[in-house]
Amino acid sequence: MPKIRYMDSRTIDAVEGQTILEAAIAAKMPHMSECGGNARCTTCRVQIVDGLSTVGLRTPAEEAVGARKGWGDDTRLACQTKVLGDVAIRPLVQHRSDVFTFNLEESDQPAGKEQHLAVMFCDLRNFTGISEGMLPPRHYVYRQQLRHRML
Ligand code: FES
Repeated sequence: MPKIRYMDSRTIDAVEGQTILEAAIAAKMPHMSECGGNARCTTCRVQIVDGLSTVGLRTPAEEAVGARKGWGDDTRLACQTKVLGDVAIRPLVQHRSDVFTFNLEESDQPAGKEQHLAVMFCDLRNFTGISEGMLPPRHYVYRQQLRHRML
């Protein structure tokens, strides 16, 4: 049975062919994942510290994300990476605040520029407080719920 070793010395068992995220969930190991394992949020990303040859190849969805963000071979999505043998990992997003920092570092967009704009601002009661504690996928779900209530 393959083992997944975290850099803080915790170790969990995995079933061969299971993804790192599936093994973490089965072992009740806390692991960030905001999109349900669909290669969209990248919050499950890990660094493969040892055992890159004992994990599966990137899925097409992970390949696209990795290419867009310019990740090296050792940065993988836990929800897409199948475990085939023993592996050592370092989760790269350990707290919600890490998501914002990583997004800034990995942005391939050019720096901002000054422009004259007209902005219309609308607010919903208590929305700022609610949204401050949410990651983008949660914003989407919440906006959809609000939209349905308003219809
Ligand atoms: S859980 Fe969202 S990309 Fe892996």
